[in-house]
Amino acid sequence: MNYPNVFLHGGDYNPDQWLDYPEVLLEDIRLMKLAGINAVSLGIFAWARLEPEEGRYDFEWMDEIVERLTENGIGIVLATPSAARPAWLAQRYPEVLRCNERFERMHYGERHNHCLTSPVYREKVRQIDTALARRYAGHKDILMWHIGNEFGGDCRCPLCAEAFREWLRNKYGTLEELNRRWWTGFWSQRYTDWSQIEPPSPMGEVSNPSMWLDWRRFETCQCASFVRMEREAVQAVNADIPVTINLMERFRDYDYFTLAKEIDVVSWDSYPTWGSGDDMALAANVAMQHDLMRSFKRKPFLLMESTPSLVNWKPHNKLKRPGMHLLSSLQAVAHGSQSVMMFQWRKGRGGSEAFHGAVVSHDGRSDTRVFRDVAEVGQVLAGLQPVLDARNQAGVCILFDYENLWALERVQAAQLGNMRYIDTVLLFYRSLWEQGIAVDFADMSEETSLEGYKVVIAPMLFMFRGGIEEKMRRFTEKGGVLVTTFFSGIVDADHLTYLGDAPHGLTDVLGLRAEEIDALYPEEFNTLAFEDGRNLPLEELCELPRDVTAEVMGVYGSDFYAGMPALTRNRFGRGTAWYLAGKPDPYGMKIVMDIILAEVKLPKADAEIDHQEGIVATARGEYIFLQNYSGEAQKVNLGRPMFDLIGQRRIEDGWMLPANGIMILKEER
Ligand code: GLA
Ligand code: ZN
Repeated sequence: MNYPNVFLHGGDYNPDQWLDYPEVLLEDIRLMKLAGINAVSLGIFAWARLEPEEGRYDFEWMDEIVERLTENGIGIVLATPSAARPAWLAQRYPEVLRCNERFERMHYGERHNHCLTSPVYREKVRQIDTALARRYAGHKDILMWHIGNEFGGDCRCPLCAEAFREWLRNKYGTLEELNRRWWTGFWSQRYTDWSQIEPPSPMGEVSNPSMWLDWRRFETCQCASFVRMEREAVQAVNADIPVTINLMERFRDYDYFTLAKEIDVVSWDSYPTWGSGDDMALAANVAMQHDLMRSFKRKPFLLMESTPSLVNWKPHNKLKRPGMHLLSSLQAVAHGSQSVMMFQWRKGRGGSEAFHGAVVSHDGRSDTRVFRDVAEVGQVLAGLQPVLDARNQAGVCILFDYENLWALERVQAAQLGNMRYIDTVLLFYRSLWEQGIAVDFADMSEETSLEGYKVVIAPMLFMFRGGIEEKMRRFTEKGGVLVTTFFSGIVDADHLTYLGDAPHGLTDVLGLRAEEIDALYPEEFNTLAFEDGRNLPLEELCELPRDVTAEVMGVYGSDFYAGMPALTRNRFGRGTAWYLAGKPDPYGMKIVMDIILAEVKLPKADAEIDHQEGIVATARGEYIFLQNYSGEAQKVNLGRPMFDLIGQRRIEDGWMLPANGIMILKEER
């Protein structure tokens, strides 16, 4: 496989905007070399230029671009153009257009909005993908296929509705079974004919959570089979070129663990709003996304898109502060990225993204701040070759599951809305990340194994599926440290509650049962009170455990449940199972995790480094990425002389790390 053997540095290259400007296209190459670009993602939205009318392909312009790039040593991540269709296609075959939530057919325009079920769309995509592959897949500089772009969203057209019913028929066999598992005895929802079932919609049924879960699974399935179709089209020509799709942050539409099975390499697009007040919180969230991306395939990933300066789609689009482009780019590398790619190479003159950050601006200059920042990243990456084969190793696994996310999205319980599942996961993640403790993620699918981890954290696993309770039990029995929380083990994979005590199947492991859960108003809080007098605020949700045989490590501080256990520890087999009944703030969570981890030996990237808050160390193999998100220059004491790969210098001990500064340190032998 042509998997990159260097760190890729580059970005979306859309020369199809510039075909009338040959001098610009020539200049691109000169500038790319100056910026240290060694790879581009080519042709992501180029369908209208590649197939100007149905069945007539025009590859000549792309031939020239491909030629020029490869002559100059620039590798190509070649896109299939399926993420935006030409106008002629929509006009001729309206079935390719998506129907929205209200079942209305959309008109031609925008992108990422076609029907993934439509046989016509699939066939047209298959044809152009095949033609592209025949033309270019023999080329040694095609590093990878970039299938579509940022797959997302739903279609509720008649074809999709029929496919949904078909999917349900396959899953349930009989309507009787569906009625039973969708609990349709409520509100007279019994279906007596398959044709009565429509996709969930505010125009019709929207509050049956079991149906919602199946809809999300079905949509995942449609996307997966679409990606598979594209993958097969291009790999039929050359099976050696790996395939990627670019994923997104905090995405909710499809199960990424499932989609990742359809591709060879995970890549993703990261657009945090750096510099808007709390970069530390933001960096924690981005770090979590990076680790999640790495976890989908348990392999290094690619940062496919990022902006070299600003975006143009948030209410306030801030410039990256000095140093931030290097810092955020290398943060990705610290967590396992094999690339730093950007959107986009050159700003267009028009269209909606003409003012989105790009390497080259409208002035065409190479002496801009942004261009220099990009060139600096190119230079640093070129010196990081030894890091490429270093791998992230984690002793902690956090369970994060898309089906649980969907289940929480639609449950009408203590809090309406999504119950802030991802934020709760982040709360745990951040407390570890800040201490330089590495984390993997896993979902609840059958193949998930908890073997090899010292600590497993299962925040807010409202749904249990795939036998996860058995895995958690065995993990604890065999000596692991299990951490669970409020609102766990309540429903099964059908979104039907278990009958019996919660968390399902784990009450003996935890030494308690969870009986009720209380919601707090946004301005309200309870506390987690410790024997030594410490008191931590608890927010949002407070669960009330009963029949507690576990050791009580902390109790509620107020309300009618004051004095009831809020943090417990239970020895089970050779291991320990913790239960946190309420939700601390980030500061409190750090203290809780310190208590929990006191008995576990976990490697910390910053074990010997003395630093202030706002500095974070992340280890990738033997390399320690020391990152400053505090917004100020900070003194760090390394504790021993080390070598910094960025500055290419030996660092004795004390060192001033500037605001947004980063060092990549290696032990000196
Ligand atoms: C997404 C898309 C790109 C571009 C950028 C802008 O990530 O994939 O085509 O629109 O956003 O931030
Ligand atoms: Zn459709």
